Amino acid sequence: MAGNDDQIEYWNGPVGEKWARFQARMDASLSEASGAVLALAAPTAGERVLDIGCGAGTTSRALAAAVGAGGHVTAVDVSQPLLNQARAGGVPDNLEFVRADAAACAFAPGHDLLFSRFGVMFFDAPAAAFAHLRGALKPGGRMAFICWRPAADNEWVTLPLEVAKTFVPPQPPADPHAPGPFAFADPQRLRGILGEAGFQDIAIAPFDGHMDMGASPKDAAFQMVNLGPTARLLREADDDTRAKVESAVEAMFAARQKDGEPIRLTIACWLVSAQA
Ligand SMILES: C[S@@+](CC[C@H](N)C(=O)[O-])C[C@H]1O[C@@H](n2cnc3c(N)ncnc32)[C@H](O)[C@@H]1O
Repeated sequence: MAGNDDQIEYWNGPVGEKWARFQARMDASLSEASGAVLALAAPTAGERVLDIGCGAGTTSRALAAAVGAGGHVTAVDVSQPLLNQARAGGVPDNLEFVRADAAACAFAPGHDLLFSRFGVMFFDAPAAAFAHLRGALKPGGRMAFICWRPAADNEWVTLPLEVAKTFVPPQPPADPHAPGPFAFADPQRLRGILGEAGFQDIAIAPFDGHMDMGASPKDAAFQMVNLGPTARLLREADDDTRAKVESAVEAMFAARQKDGEPIRLTIACWLVSAQA
């Protein structure tokens, strides 16, 4: 497969369907991260915005509300299941959802803001993709996105993964730069990519927060074995192994839970901003 084809296939398969189904839970889990990247982006009335890798469109709707009737948001994603979810319930006049590869899509020029919540780490040729995206910004336009720091710094990854690893054979180490959630974990590499793409005033700041997994260890475990790095590890696992992992992750969450309160796992992200 060439270019972004394997990611396009991935996000249009069972993973895209599951993300769409879990969207409400995902949005609840990611509320701290959302607040941080929306504050960094600071969209204002009348602005023209691109939301890259918009998924089911929660941030796109927040951006559309912020720019108001005089502004416009174009929200782009490759995943049909997620775009179906994004369009459900109607779309405001100042928001459009577009199914396209953001690295290749012919955008109108002159946007004020390029935004993403965890949607820009999946490009096969990231410097070329960001150079292409920069072309959609007006001179002096800005970019703001949030992406993951190393998996090892994120409890939402390490805790369920450690449990799951006791049930499946060891995996070969993954290429840390391959397209995927942790492709921008190394800030020097990320800075190099954005610089090569022609961005200026690049700022990469740590954001430490929490993922709120809700108060049910069972639901939290179900979410973890169906989405994200633990789900990826279990891709080839049979139903019996998956069930064992799910109940062991549930027990781990239950042991961490205090007095029935929501289960909170640490998240470690980069908040990234730059100018065109
Ligand atoms: C981790 S999800 C984040 C979705 C959404 N921003 C959110 O926070 O809920 C990553 C998204 O990037 C999309 N994506 C991956 N590669 C893409 C590409 N080349 N162009 C546009 N979207 C892409 C996926 O389909 C997926 O919806």
